[in-house]
Amino acid sequence: MSTPVRIWDLPTRLFHWALAICIVLGIVFVKIGGNAIQWHAYCGYTALALILFRVIWGFVGSQHARFANFVPSPARLIAFLRGQADGGLGHNPLGALSVIALLTVVLIQALTGLFADDDIFFQGPLAKYVSNDTVALLTSIHRFNQYLIFALVGLHIAAILYYYFIKRENLVGPMVTGDKLTDTTPKVEETVDSSRQRMLALAIFLLIILGLYFLIA
Ligand code: HEM
Ligand code: HEM
Repeated sequence: MSTPVRIWDLPTRLFHWALAICIVLGIVFVKIGGNAIQWHAYCGYTALALILFRVIWGFVGSQHARFANFVPSPARLIAFLRGQADGGLGHNPLGALSVIALLTVVLIQALTGLFADDDIFFQGPLAKYVSNDTVALLTSIHRFNQYLIFALVGLHIAAILYYYFIKRENLVGPMVTGDKLTDTTPKVEETVDSSRQRMLALAIFLLIILGLYFLIA
């Protein structure tokens, strides 16, 4: 009989869907242009807070959220690609690489945004602390890096569709409910998703918001 096993804790799920919403809204606002750039910045700050949270959660979060438990060694990656090892219940070794790539490009986007200047309405809050050349360079990186984000998010969604239609595995359900159905995996793989863990996540997130508020204001 299949039993549900908790894989993604609530903080990881909230992080994921909030990040996706921030990125989509941020891009919509910047493409609207004009004063909407201010809302672009709010989405960007939130995305930055979320990524910083996820990096910390990758060290102190629950089982499947921890980098140490999903970032593969080269040997494990090769074994997985050759079909000699299964992917486990959390991110599989290939998925893990895409997670790291997504977190990195979004972090770069959010950080460079803090220094970016649109030459009309808006300047990132840290632009005044660096030279004009640095602002120009970081703004160009901010412009170029959007294409890396588009490519990786496109690949991410293509992989999820591939799993759904070809491999007949729904990965989205667990990212919503937290649970995967399994009949073979020992309980040891179950993630702790207790109120204590959730309070810890909330405290970390609030501290990050506070830190960013002082940096930006
Ligand atoms: C801008 C859009 C998106 C970004 C930046 C993004 C980013 C990410 C990241 C960073 C993770 C790793 C989660 C973690 O361990 O913290 C992830 C996992 C995941 N995302 Fe997204 N995501 C986006 C959109 C979506 C959409 C639209 C869907 C659904 C259609 C989706 C479905 C998933 C699923 C199912 C996983 C878990 C994959 C697995 O089982 O290994 N994502 N995503
Ligand atoms: C992850 C978060 C972010 C994403 C995905 C993002 C994405 C983008 C995109 C797609 C553009 C349009 C580039 C173009 O084609 O011209 C842009 C421009 C811009 N962004 Fe962001 N951004 C983020 C964070 C931020 C932050 C935190 C700030 C500052 C507070 C910021 C400030 C700007 C500015 C000033 C521009 C205009 C630059 C120009 O005129 O070329 N962004 N951003």
